[in-house]
Amino acid sequence: MKTSKKVINSLKLSFPSLSVNESAARAVVAAFSAQADPTTTELADIKCAVSEAVTNCIVHGYPDSIGEIYISVKILEGRTVRIEIKDKGKGIEDIALARTPLYTTSPETERSGMGFTVMESFMDKITVRSRVGKGTTVVLFKTLKERKKAE
Ligand SMILES: Nc1ncnc2c1ncn2[C@@H]1O[C@H](COP(=O)(O)OP(=O)(O)OP(=O)(O)O)[C@@H](O)[C@H]1O
Ligand SMILES: [Mg+2]
Repeated sequence: MKTSKKVINSLKLSFPSLSVNESAARAVVAAFSAQADPTTTELADIKCAVSEAVTNCIVHGYPDSIGEIYISVKILEGRTVRIEIKDKGKGIEDIALARTPLYTTSPETERSGMGFTVMESFMDKITVRSRVGKGTTVVLFKTLKERKKAE
């Protein structure tokens, strides 16, 4: 089902897949998401999920080269944060398998196969689209809890 929620604000950024850019991307997305007034925990959840998605683009999307990573953050009506993270790299053959906890194609490294599981548990919903040789797009959604107004 397509979300038709009104977009309140949006931000786009792109950067080369250098690992040094992971923390910068995470910080920018967090700073922008902060305007929706998340709790500290909600913000930490968003940062964690973004970090996993960007790391995946860096290590799996572009394993042998440096490619561009594209992020689009939207604040939607109803305090929903929508974050799209995209690479034009290797792609995923079997998305359902890739999303299985502990599944990794890089067992020889320090990877544990928990990135998608972390994204799923910290966000309300994630969608993954991918085509082998074309790239991968992950969309993360989180609706922030209603907060009591301090007046
Ligand atoms: N952007 C991507 N491009 C290509 N393959 C991907 C991408 N993201 C994930 N994958 C594939 O999905 C698998 C599972 O990803 P996941 O993030 O759950 O685990 P991991 O990256 O292997 O380990 P961890 O995230 O725990 O370090 C990866 O091993 C990889 O094969
Ligand atoms: Mg990962």
